Amino acid sequence: MSYSINSAEKKLSIINLFDLEEKFQKSMQQSNHEKEADFILGGAGSEYTLRHNISDFDDWEIVPSVMHGLCEDDGVTTTKIFDIDLKTPIIVSPSAAHGLVHKSAELGTIKGTFNAGSLMTVSTFSNELLKDIHESSPNAPWFYQFSMDQNEKLSDFLLHEAVTQGAKAIVVGVFGASFGRRERDIRNNFDFDPDLPFRQLAAFPDYPKNLDILKVNGRTRDISPKEIAVIKKKTGLPVLIKGIQTGEDAIRAIEFGADGIWISNTGGRQLDGIRSTINALPEIAKAVNKRVPIVFDSGIRRGQQVFKALALGADLIAIGRAPLYGLHFGGHKGVTSVLAQLQVELLNTMLLSGITTIDEIKQNARLVRTNR
Ligand SMILES: Cc1cc2nc3c(=O)[nH]c(=O)nc-3n(C[C@H](O)[C@H](O)[C@H](O)COP(=O)(O)O)c2cc1C
Repeated sequence: MSYSINSAEKKLSIINLFDLEEKFQKSMQQSNHEKEADFILGGAGSEYTLRHNISDFDDWEIVPSVMHGLCEDDGVTTTKIFDIDLKTPIIVSPSAAHGLVHKSAELGTIKGTFNAGSLMTVSTFSNELLKDIHESSPNAPWFYQFSMDQNEKLSDFLLHEAVTQGAKAIVVGVFGASFGRRERDIRNNFDFDPDLPFRQLAAFPDYPKNLDILKVNGRTRDISPKEIAVIKKKTGLPVLIKGIQTGEDAIRAIEFGADGIWISNTGGRQLDGIRSTINALPEIAKAVNKRVPIVFDSGIRRGQQVFKALALGADLIAIGRAPLYGLHFGGHKGVTSVLAQLQVELLNTMLLSGITTIDEIKQNARLVRTNR
């Protein structure tokens, strides 16, 4: 029997993304996809970092300024990265297997993201071929998240296909030399349904038939900084390093040629017990010192959190789980709804703080640290 999942295409009415997360869990349980929901919602170990990625935003308070003669429609959220114009600073993080939540899989995500004026990062573990993703929304800009494989031929095959299909940048995932211990998945004995193959990986002629994600992709070593130059040379594309959590690593990545730093702890899915990305951001922003753009992810559920991360030095904010909730309930329209929700909340925060543009947030927004 084939994997059965939603195929509805509809705009969503959302109060906030926490509500949507709760509804997502219930809906997946009701359709007998509890294990898949756990795979998406869960994190490593006791999920300390997963929780703190969200709650540590409360360590920072916004200081509003309210006498500027502004009107409600004065806010503008346009921005750019590597000369790609975006209507919003909120982009989509790479996540595996979008077919787990909706029939349209990555084809829905790229369409919904593009319609929101944003860009998607396609995971190495996509259910759809890069060619099909690109051809389904040919004008949509997208980044390719690359997980280096022990098998150089497979790595070359993936990078070559990303370039051929028009990726605008390579996002190199640096996850550490092992795989996070996700207890929900261990307890559930989770594995991917054979009906949802990682089509791009499977297109490699020598790809192993066994779909255990713990065994594929040789996740037994981290990458060395020298490999940044090799990837840049092979692709001719800007390279962002995703998974940076310290100022020192950011400096090393830039010294070895990184064109962008992507601060991430993969939403608490790798090493548990580490600091949240929002609390790592000030140190990293200082070390980067505006030499290259900073993308920030892990923990974003509200527009005011987007505002805080921009104020602390990020240039773009990425979301991993939230677009999957939108995709689940409404296909491409649901993905657009999630991005629009954060956009509305961001604009509301900007105007109530006396700020009208993304650059102004970066230059003028004031935050204070609380003494919780
Ligand atoms: C279900 C799921 C699968 C993921 N797969 C990948 C992946 O294939 N490659 C990657 O670099 N990050 C992956 N991530 C991490 C996301 O890119 C991102 O860092 C994280 O979800 C951000 O946290 P948030 O979910 O709180 O927004 C995954 C995250 C989730 C939730």
